[in-house]
Amino acid sequence: MATRTKDQATAQRTATRTYQIAVIPGDGTGPEVIREGRKVLEAAAKREGFALNWHPYDLGGERYLKTKETLPASVVNELRDVDAIYLGAIGHPDVTPGILEQGILLRLRFELDQYINLRPVKLYPGVWTPLRDKTPEHIDFVVVRENTEGLYAGVGGFLKKGTKDEVALQTSVNTRVGVERCIRFAFEYTRKRAKRKKLTLCGKTNVLTYAHDLWQRVFNEVAKSYSDIQTEYTHVDACCMWMVKNPEWFDVIVTDNMFGDIITDLGAMIQGGMGIAAGGNLNPEGVSMFEPIGGSAPKYTGKNVINPLAAICAGSMMLEYLGETKAGRAVEQAVMEITGKKLKSLAAGKMGYSTSEVGDLVVNALAR
Ligand code: IPM
Ligand code: MN
Repeated sequence: MATRTKDQATAQRTATRTYQIAVIPGDGTGPEVIREGRKVLEAAAKREGFALNWHPYDLGGERYLKTKETLPASVVNELRDVDAIYLGAIGHPDVTPGILEQGILLRLRFELDQYINLRPVKLYPGVWTPLRDKTPEHIDFVVVRENTEGLYAGVGGFLKKGTKDEVALQTSVNTRVGVERCIRFAFEYTRKRAKRKKLTLCGKTNVLTYAHDLWQRVFNEVAKSYSDIQTEYTHVDACCMWMVKNPEWFDVIVTDNMFGDIITDLGAMIQGGMGIAAGGNLNPEGVSMFEPIGGSAPKYTGKNVINPLAAICAGSMMLEYLGETKAGRAVEQAVMEITGKKLKSLAAGKMGYSTSEVGDLVVNALAR
C-alpha cells in the first residue's frame, strides 16, 4: 500500500467507503474467532453498502517459533497505513510468557501510540452474570484505560540479580501529556455517550501519592471545562467493591494502565465472561486496533467450540470507529438478539452451538 497522509486516508475512505483493515488472527483460538468476526462484518458491509479490504498478517507464536521474529519494523510501518487493525489473540503455550505479549501486543499499542484502551462492560439481555439480582439495566458502563504508560512502560531493572541481595525495580511512568490526553478523551467520551454523564476517576491517591496526585490534579483541572459532566473519585480497591455491589453506580471510569487491566477482567466477568468482552486500542489521531479481551485459550484451539461473540463485538466497535455507525450498531443489536434468545451459555463448549454456528446466527439476525 502506498503511504498516505492521514488526511488523504480519511478523504479516501469517506469518498469510497472502502476500508483497509489489517487482520492479525494470531494464536490459539484467535483465527477461529476472527474468521467468524470477518463473516459478520462482511455481512454488515454488504447490508450497509461499504467494503472492507482485508490485509492478513501472520504475527504470533507460530511465526516466532519458526523465525524468532515477533513484530518486524516493516510490518509496523505497513500498519501505520491501514484504517484499522482487527486482532484475534496473542499467546502461545510453547513460547515463554511475555515474549509475544510484549513483542507483539504491547509493542503495537506503543508504536502506534494507541493511548486509550476502551472497554465497554455491558450485560446483554439473557446473559448470565454471577451478580445475583443484577440485570442489563444495572450493568452498562465503559472503562477508559490509559494504554501506553504506567507500569507497562517497561522502566526498571535489576540490581545484583540472582543473589540474595537482589533488587527489582518497576517504575510507573505518568507523564503530564499522557495523563491529560487520556483524561480529556474520557471527558469527551462521557459527553458523547450521553447516558448518565458521570465520569469516575479510579486511582489510589492515598498510597500512590506522586503518580495519582498528578492524575487527580489533571482530572480536576480538565473537569472545569466539562460542567455538564458529574465527576467522582474512587480508590481502585473500593472500585472493585462497587463494581460487584452496585455496578449501576458507574457510567464511565477512567484509570491508569495497570488498574485498567485488572478492573476490566472483573468487568468482563460481570458482563458474562471472556466470551463477550471486547475492547479497542485507540489512537484518535492514528490507527486503532480492536480485539476480544480474552486470551488465546490454547485448550480450545481448533475445536470450533470457542465463543466468537467477543471478537464480533470488537468488530462492531471497529465499524463504529470507522464511522459506519449504523452497521456497528446493527452488529451489536444482532448479538443482543442471539444472546437473549439462542445461546444457552457464553462459555466455550457450552453455547449449544459451535463457533461457526454462532457466527451464522449473528449473520442471520443481521439479515432480519
Ligand atoms: C489485556 C492483556 C494484556 C495486558 C497482556 C496480554 C499483556 O491482559 O489486553 O488486558 O495486560 O494489557
Ligand atoms: Mn488484561
